[in-house]
Amino acid sequence: MTSYTGYLAIHKFESELKKELEIKGLKITLEKDRLFLVEGDHPQMIWAQMTAFDLRAIPITSIKDGAKKLKALGRNWGLFTVEHHRRAQLIQEELPKINQKPIPFRHPLPSLPMGFWTLWEPDLMMVASSTSSPFALGEMDFQEDKIMPPSRAYLKLWEFFTVYAPEEISGGTSLDVGSCPGGWTWVLRTLNFDKTISVDKAPIETRIMDLGQIDFRQESAFGLDPHDLGEIDWFCSDIICYPERLLNLVNRFRAAGTVKNFVCTIKYQKETDWEQTLKFLEIPNSRIVHLHHNKHEVTWFLKGALA
Ligand SMILES: C[S@@+](CC[C@H](N)C(=O)[O-])C[C@H]1O[C@@H](n2cnc3c(N)ncnc32)[C@H](O)[C@@H]1O
Repeated sequence: MTSYTGYLAIHKFESELKKELEIKGLKITLEKDRLFLVEGDHPQMIWAQMTAFDLRAIPITSIKDGAKKLKALGRNWGLFTVEHHRRAQLIQEELPKINQKPIPFRHPLPSLPMGFWTLWEPDLMMVASSTSSPFALGEMDFQEDKIMPPSRAYLKLWEFFTVYAPEEISGGTSLDVGSCPGGWTWVLRTLNFDKTISVDKAPIETRIMDLGQIDFRQESAFGLDPHDLGEIDWFCSDIICYPERLLNLVNRFRAAGTVKNFVCTIKYQKETDWEQTLKFLEIPNSRIVHLHHNKHEVTWFLKGALA
């Protein structure tokens, strides 16, 4: 029986996913709406909000039969409907409820695997019991803080430190470049760093400065000399700039050998800059993800840069 890797594109970024699959030499065998199926076993893609592994066709004879077959394969199922919505919903209603409430910052991720299914034809399901995310369709939401953060940019860093870097932080220094109005600096202050160096050409909000232990420097991040800043545990960048400029900055800090970990937003203008994105990916042991809270931008990170 044919096995596929299913890629669910991020809404409005279907062409980015198609381009990425093309760059990786992967041919789409079947597609419906923003779901692309590639024959065989393949890795996650940056522009897929969820990747379904070993996706297979399963025929069904009735709603009850569909639900029974899904229940036999796992507990948690995220449904993506393109057609046959009503019939698919009736099957989904027969399945155990998924507890998908917004989670607090750094809350442990659900431990049970999350499956994926869609009703491809009225009597044919496409089913994967294993996916890239513990959240249905890769969608995660936080219990937001509507009081402290001065912008919603903090949600990106919340997601990053919850999903990709949940390890405990005990002291050290974080550097936040392109930090204003102060959302990321606020997040870094709530983590257990001894000090946060925060750099932007614009001024930071006073109430963020009032939190203390913040060394704010109103200057261009591109003029920073890594050797003046000492050892940095986390280099964080949300600067609005061309990807090439960010890559040069990152490489300058890597060459200095003073930074243990990096997390940076790569922001795009009208077009996705694939050339520079691929250059970021050439940095050994680094990874690029499109966070659920990213827009037309991606997140590059490198953990253990000095290891
Ligand atoms: C998207 S905002 C950052 C939002 C921030 N992460 C937060 O959570 O509030 C981008 C910032 O990059 C800053 N920026 C642009 N060029 C810069 C440069 N050369 N040096 C430092 N900051 C720069 C802008 O002033 C702007 O505040």
